[in-house]
Order: sequence, then structure tokens, then C-alpha cells
Amino acid sequence: LAAATAASLALSANAYAADDCNDGEIVIKFSHVVAATGHPKGDAATLLAERVNDEMNGKACMQVFPNSQLFDDDKVMEALLLGDVQLAAPSLSKFEAYTLKFRLFDLPFLFQDLDAVERFTTGENGKELLNSMTDYGFQGLGYWSSGLKQFSANKPLLVPDDAKGLKFRVQTSDVAVAMIEAMGANAQKLAFKEVYGALQTGVVDGQENSWSNIYTQKFFEVQDGITGTNHQLLAYLLVTSDEWLDSLDPEVRDQFLTIVEEVTATANGNVAAAEAKNRQNVLDAGSTIRELTPEQRKAWVGAMKPVWDKFEGDIGKDLIDSAVASNN
Ligand code: LMR
Repeated sequence: LAAATAASLALSANAYAADDCNDGEIVIKFSHVVAATGHPKGDAATLLAERVNDEMNGKACMQVFPNSQLFDDDKVMEALLLGDVQLAAPSLSKFEAYTLKFRLFDLPFLFQDLDAVERFTTGENGKELLNSMTDYGFQGLGYWSSGLKQFSANKPLLVPDDAKGLKFRVQTSDVAVAMIEAMGANAQKLAFKEVYGALQTGVVDGQENSWSNIYTQKFFEVQDGITGTNHQLLAYLLVTSDEWLDSLDPEVRDQFLTIVEEVTATANGNVAAAEAKNRQNVLDAGSTIRELTPEQRKAWVGAMKPVWDKFEGDIGKDLIDSAVASNN
């Protein structure tokens, strides 16, 4: 018991933006895996906590646990159902156990930029997808964008052929695996917190992630350089359990959901600047960034196109078409 108490005290002491919760306040624990600051998700979580703790003082109290210090993404969904945490924001690639619809967001070269993502996620189809996991007791509260992904490896990557035979870390997503295989490379699913070590020790040769993750996790330190492929979206689902949401008084729930909506809009508006800043941070740290010529980009798009056909049945052609239409 003493050890458990000590561990839980250590956790609360580490919680970023932790508020001392008072008796009678609803405690809202938010667990995520990225850096606490300088990252779109870390900063959004902090902003949400600040607003809840300020505007709902006396009614609710929010604590954020960043950096996988509380749960990995593969455990956090269960933790939501058990009531160990009330909020999580895994990437949309990580929900395959509950819905195959989110495979949409992993299709390579689907969205041309973050504005297209915003148009889709705030549109009718995007909003409906928030309810994809209600059968399992989960409610999506909003999409938090985090930028487009870039490839890196322990050698220069300019065309997909350069990746042949290499091993890349991917998230727990079969779409990502198919994409890597389409490049003639091998995919290995690994938890986020294991990526740096796996790159450093050569367990994998390369990775793909947003500029903010590449910078804040220091992946660039253990890679030859980064290639500006912008090949896939990284975005999160802010998710809670129906049971918890239903347990709130309507007035408290409305206030909380209004704050969530406003923070989501603010956070998504900040992503492009945060990504540009972290790209610059990677350069300033002395890493090499390779940008693609239009020809080279075409080769990446072409190599990955078969992935779309493979998952069309899971996602639905209409949904894919509506996401594509958000590019215009
Ligand atoms: C990853 O596992 O690479 C990402 O989902 C981590 C994150 O939350 O950005």
C-alpha cells in the first residue's frame, strides 16, 4: 500500500498544470503520450486544463499526465472505461480495435493541407465519425490536428525506392503497415515511447511522424535526415467514456463541452505555426531536411496509391470521396 501511495503521489507531483483538487470537485484526468509543451497536443491539453481549472473552479478539476507517464495509447482506452482517466487523445491510427472507419485518416496523401483537414472534420461526415465507437462506450469529443508526417531513416530518402528493405517503426495501424510494404520496406509496430531507443539501437532504420514529434522526441538525432514527404495526416481524437459524460450534471456537461469546443478550435488554429516552428527547430539543431522535387513527390504518391484500394471496403467510397472533396 505504501508503495502504491508513493507512486500515485509521484504521479500527481509530475502532473503538468495539476490543480489541487478540492472536495466535491469532479476530477478529470487526461493522459497522453507526447511532450507537455511545444507540441500541438501537449499545448492543447494544457490550455484545456487551464480553462477548466479557471472557469469550472469548485465544480471540476483537471490534471494532465503527458509523456506516457500514466498510460500508453494501447492501455488508455481501457483506462477510460475503468474510470482511471476521463480524457485521452490517441492518434486516429490507434483505434482499429474499435472501428475501421478511422482508416480514412491514414490514407496516404489524402489531405493536401491542414485547412482541408479542418474542412472535413468540421463538416457533417467528420462530425458523424465522432460517434463511431459508441458501441464500445466511447464518445469522440473533437479532432485535434497535429500536422502532416515526414519520413526519416538512417540513410537519405528521396524516392520510395531508397526505402527498399529498410525497417520502419509505425503506429498500431494496418494502413501504415500496408503503406510501408508498398514502398518495399518492412513495418514494425512500436509504442511511441520506444521509438527513440529503437532508432538509436538499430531495431528499426526509420520512422514517420510530424515535425513536432520529430523535434520534441529528438528522433532527428538518431537519423540521417528528414525528408519533407507530408505523406499522411497525424491527428488525434479527443475521447472520453459515455459513462463518465452521462454521469455529469447537464449544466456541468454543457460548460465542459463548450470549453472543449473552443479549445479544439483554438488548438487547431495553432497547429500550422507549431509545425513550422518545430521544422525550423530540427534545422537549427543541425539536422538535414530534404525537400522533394515535384517528380520525386509523384513517385511517393504513386507508390502508395494501392493502399487506397486495399482499405476502401473498410472505410466506404463515399466517405473517401467526401474527404477528397475537402481539398477544394
Ligand atoms: C505515434 O505513436 O507516433 C503518435 O501517435 C504519437 C502522438 O500521440 O503524437
